[in-house]
Order: sequence, then C-alpha cells, then structure tokens
Amino acid sequence: MEKEANWPGPEGLIPALEKNAANASLHTRRFLDEILIEERIIGTRVADLTMKLWGSEFTSPIMMPAFSHLNKAGLAHRPMEEYAQAAKNLGIVNWVGMESDADYAKIAEVGAKTIRIIKPFADHEKIREQMTFAVKHQALAVGIDIDHSIGKDGNVDVVDGEKLGTLTAQEIKEFADFAHKSGVPFVAKGVLSTRDAALCEKAGADAIVVSHHHGRMPFAVPPAMILPDIRKVSGKMKVFADCSVDDGRDAYKLLALGADAVSTGRAILPGLLKEGTPAVERKIQQMNDQLKELMGYTGVAALDLFDATVLWYHGRPLK
Ligand SMILES: Cc1cc2nc3c(=O)[nH]c(=O)nc-3n(C[C@H](O)[C@H](O)[C@H](O)COP(=O)(O)O)c2cc1C
Repeated sequence: MEKEANWPGPEGLIPALEKNAANASLHTRRFLDEILIEERIIGTRVADLTMKLWGSEFTSPIMMPAFSHLNKAGLAHRPMEEYAQAAKNLGIVNWVGMESDADYAKIAEVGAKTIRIIKPFADHEKIREQMTFAVKHQALAVGIDIDHSIGKDGNVDVVDGEKLGTLTAQEIKEFADFAHKSGVPFVAKGVLSTRDAALCEKAGADAIVVSHHHGRMPFAVPPAMILPDIRKVSGKMKVFADCSVDDGRDAYKLLALGADAVSTGRAILPGLLKEGTPAVERKIQQMNDQLKELMGYTGVAALDLFDATVLWYHGRPLK
C-alpha cells in the first residue's frame, strides 16, 4: 500500500529517475561508502591531527565549509558567525562563501582564521575589492569558487541579482597575482579534472578545492574518485577536498587519497541551524575522534603519513 502511495506515476517516473541519476552527491556518497580500509595495527601509535598551513598551526585537517546566506534564513540567531566561533574555539580553519563586505566583517570579527571565497562576478573589480576587504580583515587566504559560472539554464548564473561570469586561465592567474601582491594565498574552489588542476597550478594558485559544490554539476565525478590523479599534477599547490565529508571516516578516505585537508558542509548544517556553535563543535569533535581512530588502526601517526594502499574498492586494492 505504501509503495503505491510513493509511486510517481508514468509521467513522474522518468524525471524522478533522471533526477536521482544526475545527482552528483548521490554518486559521491555511494563511492565513499564502498571504499573499505585494511588494518595495519602492529607498531601503531596514537595519531596526531595537528596541521600546519601557511604559517599557522591547526588542531585538525577537518575544516569548516564555505557556507553563505545562512544569516538570511529567517532564524533568530546568526549561523555564519556561530560556525566561525566553533572554528575559533576548536582551532580549525574557517571558510566563508558569498557574503557582502559588511557581513564578512562581522564574521571576521569572531577571530577565526578564515578563507574568503568570492563568487566569479562578471564585474572583476568587485572581486578585487572583496579580496582587498578580506585582507584588511586578516583573511588567511582568498579565493574564487570557479565552478559557479553556469546556471541551471546553461547561461551564466545570477545570484542575489549579481551577474556571474566565466574565467579563463589567464584571468585566474591575474587574480592569483592580485592576491599575492595583497599578501595572501589564492585558492581556486571547484576543480574536478586534472586539466583544470594543471591550469590552476600554472596560474599560480596556492591551493585548489576538489569539489562539485554539493552537486552543482549533474553527473559530476566524485572528488574521491579523481583526487589521486589531481594530486599527481598538483606540484606545490595544496589540495583540499569537500563534498559528502559527513564523518571522520570520509575525511580519512579523502586524506588517504591525497587531500591535504577537507571541509565538511551539510553534515554540520542541522546542528548549526538548530543549536549553533556547541552543536558544530560536538560534530567536529566526533569527526576528529573517528579520523584519529582510523589513523590508529592503520598506523598513520601524523598527517604526512597517509598511504592510499590501505584502501580497498570492490574486493581489490583501490590503487
Ligand atoms: C547553504 C550553503 C551555502 C553555500 N554557499 C557557498 C558559497 O557561497 N560559495 C561556495 O564556494 N560554496 C558554497 N557552498 C558549498 C560548500 O562550500 C561545499 O562545497 C558543499 O556544501 C559541499 O560539501 P557538503 O557535501 O559537505 O555539503 C554552500 C553550501 C551550502 C549548503
């Protein structure tokens, strides 16, 4: 009876299947879940999660996400500042997405070490202004979510009335140069091919985020699937990753596959919206414990000792 109630009907079935198949988050979740881990317990030590990045030390490679807009969700509290506060209390990297300068200033005031990700606005002067503003407010780094150009209708997207644009490799180089002249590293967020990673490396990016931006692109390859190849072409760039890092085990898998650090996004959202800072802190602490547990089981005593040969996929070593 229940099955019948859920039956979408002949007209509804094909769109429903298409929607599911195209959903990159679904494939990403599935891929991560099917990676298994072999034990290397003899001689192991308790793991140290300390991460050094651009002259600062952090307590974990699990970072906050580049969220945005949450202060406009009609809540009686301010989630954007609240997760920044959790980052500060925990000593981990904070990230912020599309926020006005005035709103960014309030988040920066919390005092977490923050990476500001700016939209690829068609107006490049606006990108430079927002970078300068972030530097004045002690940003750890600045960057652009280069994967947010195309909207659902195939044209350049418009967000909050602001027209976005596409970026060439030369333009990415100019923004990287601008960030460097301003005294901060430059991050290209939303890289999902060895081609684009190599172009970012050549453009002088200090880091990329291997990401499909919670499934913006239909049928996007899972970050974990392409990460080892991207790592190979990434020379001196830091390689971060996100998408479906829902617990510390997902973080372990991405770190073993070559990520220097990872962001968790929607996994912190329910607690953040309901309860704010304490819920985010609890979730990240739990993720840290899970990551440390698996590092202990596999003889990975520190972040530079990950080894992808512990990973198995469909009955065979993944690598
Ligand atoms: C509410 C919300 C707002 C977001 N805003 C931005 C943004 O402004 N810029 C950006 O680069 N990514 C943005 N993202 C994407 C996240 O940074 C991240 O790439 C994505 O959520 C994937 O991780 P997840 O699967 O853990 O959620 C946003 C995500 C959410 C859920």
